[in-house]
Amino acid sequence: MNIRIFKSADDIGKAAAMIFASQVLQKPNCLLGFATGSTPLPTYRQMIELYKSGIADYSSVTTFNLDEYIGFDGNHPQSYRYFMMQNLFNHINVKQENINVVSGIPNSNFEEVGKAYDQKIESLGGIDVQLLGIGHNGHVAFNEPSDHFSNGTHQVFLTNSTIEANKRFFEHADDVPRSAMSMGIASIMKARNIVLVSAGSDKATAIQAAVEGPITPECPASILQLHPSVTFMLDEGAASKL
Ligand code: F6R
Repeated sequence: MNIRIFKSADDIGKAAAMIFASQVLQKPNCLLGFATGSTPLPTYRQMIELYKSGIADYSSVTTFNLDEYIGFDGNHPQSYRYFMMQNLFNHINVKQENINVVSGIPNSNFEEVGKAYDQKIESLGGIDVQLLGIGHNGHVAFNEPSDHFSNGTHQVFLTNSTIEANKRFFEHADDVPRSAMSMGIASIMKARNIVLVSAGSDKATAIQAAVEGPITPECPASILQLHPSVTFMLDEGAASKL
């Protein structure tokens, strides 16, 4: 596990974007895994800059996102697909048909949807670099604290703490969907390289548990201690309890 500490969230974004750019240079048709939320935004801004300056070419890249709310289609402004289009995909040359966000259409056979998503990742050779954020309770994607580590992409029900954290994007807490599709812990652990970004002292406890605590599904991110190529990119606040 590599730990890198930066002065600011923007510095994390610059360094994380360089990791993606160098992956794309080495393997133009690579698979990249992306996350939503606030923390990846500086990374996405820098990825756009690297594209505009001609350094990174995403034309052969395939992308997979970690998760999606159930109940919104991809045109809904609160959907994660929409978030990715607005904050990254509309500004770089990734092909529409190479963008994958697991579908959250209500009343689907979620088991089948999850299986098909994992199979598509596998059939294309697996994710080369996966970007992650972390929740205050140690969640990654929508894998909440639990008594077991989840397996493949599956339906999840949001905990109160996640609804609380995510309500900032909605008018009312009641508007936050109660369920989502999420890559499982096993799917995430299959990525060849993982980059976890975290900024702010409010994440310090989660980071400490993930990095120094026991490996337990009560802190889903703690499983990353077992990953052969994971880098935590933190600001001083997020690293303050290490
Ligand atoms: C989003 C996701 C979530 C976030 C986490 C942190 O795709 O997977 O696990 O990474 O909730 O969110 P922020 O970055 O907004 O603090």
